[in-house]
Amino acid sequence: MSEPSSMVAPAAPAQALSWRQVLRVVRENPLQLWTEAAYEQEYEVQGFLGRKRFLLNAPDAIQQVLVREAGHFRRTAASIRLLRPFVGQGLLLSEGALWRRERRLIAPTLAPRALPPLMAEAARAIGAAETRLAAAAGGEVDLLAAMQDLSLEIAGRTMFSVATDAFAGEMRRLFIEASERLSRPDLLDLVLPIGVPSPRDLARFWFRRRWVRLIGRIIAAREQSAIKAGAGTDLYDLLRAALSAEGKAGARLLRDEVATMLIAGHETTALTLFWSALLLAAHPEVQARIAAEASPLDLGPEGAAASLEQLPYTRAVVSEALRLYPPAAAIVRQAITEQQVGDLVIPRGALVFVSPWVLHRHRRLWAAPTRFDPERFLPGAPPIGRFAYLPFGTGPRVCVGAQFALAEATLVLASLFRRFEVARTDSAPVVPVSLVTTQPNRAPPFRLRLRR
Ligand code: HEM
Repeated sequence: MSEPSSMVAPAAPAQALSWRQVLRVVRENPLQLWTEAAYEQEYEVQGFLGRKRFLLNAPDAIQQVLVREAGHFRRTAASIRLLRPFVGQGLLLSEGALWRRERRLIAPTLAPRALPPLMAEAARAIGAAETRLAAAAGGEVDLLAAMQDLSLEIAGRTMFSVATDAFAGEMRRLFIEASERLSRPDLLDLVLPIGVPSPRDLARFWFRRRWVRLIGRIIAAREQSAIKAGAGTDLYDLLRAALSAEGKAGARLLRDEVATMLIAGHETTALTLFWSALLLAAHPEVQARIAAEASPLDLGPEGAAASLEQLPYTRAVVSEALRLYPPAAAIVRQAITEQQVGDLVIPRGALVFVSPWVLHRHRRLWAAPTRFDPERFLPGAPPIGRFAYLPFGTGPRVCVGAQFALAEATLVLASLFRRFEVARTDSAPVVPVSLVTTQPNRAPPFRLRLRR
């Protein structure tokens, strides 16, 4: 199955870019940073104003940087600048003892064992979304917005027992504003150390004040009424109990953690669902196979968790969409001290990239890498190379929500595609653009028809 011609991967440059071109590409679409040759080599080294940047594709090198010697590398100043306005000191950006403490608190709440009640809650939100989409069937639907609202609702209900519909519009507006103005780094964002504010950091500071007010309103809504089905504790209860003795600092950290988990927990999954829908719109036969797999199953709150095990094909579709359109296109680190990685000497301060976008389309790691082929992920298919498939990263900082995201996305696709046939109503290209996450350059209209 070919990648549809209406989905256009941006062309990789034939040669390394000049520093001016790098600046433009970093602002417009970093998917075009690495050359065509990077898609078949073990690494690529580029320079930028006297500094080196390394892209690693070799499994050993990736393992060294992200797993074995992860402690010798840290998050980059540019990532901190772009993400800090949203997540503050939360799990995504924290380091050292604070990170270990946050990780220990949060990881068990999203582990496979903890998923059944969360998937029951997710099923409720999916049921409501299905009803809304059924009412809109026949007309044009913005599935990007619908998937963002649904993923946010699932994140809010499962982790924090709070309904998010009243906040979704404002959150989306703030997101769009940030990706237009603040998530496109300029020269000073790239070269100034994090301790020295760049001019854009001031705009980010003001943006953060508005964002924090929104999160504050979500927390106030949760404090007023929790929509918990049972009396069990949710992530919010756990965080609040752990931080309550720490006064104002504890309250700030609670707010940052809620913001982190809401944002990291919904935007990436929404994009996974959007790209899956776009691929499936071009492949009605794959839609039919999902519908056939899902039809006999109970996907409601009672049965959702148990049914997930019986959706291997739907899950393979999710995995393949994550391969072709990884929401996190690059995992970037900065070397704290000089490091020898394979044959490469990585100077102190140099940037090291592991790019799921490049890895997942690498010509030596995948057969027919641009082909949409969910079968690659079915039991019995040839094994996938270790470190060739990293939509959730790897090592100590691997995505804490990976199992949750896979379960959620599988459940949403199974529920929607057994109910609806999905088609696009235009054929103009949709281009992936990596601005913090891998977003489409526009939200194409879809049409849903109730499946017979
Ligand atoms: C398809 C959906 C998702 C994708 C593709 C994704 C991808 C990633 C990746 C690549 C990382 C590692 C970043 C790095 O090493 O620098 C990461 C970390 C993280 N993710 Fe996800 N993620 C997804 C869903 C979620 C969900 C559902 C949650 C929460 C419920 C979540 C919360 C986080 C957090 C808190 C971290 C930071 C972990 C740490 O640094 O210890 N993500 N994610």
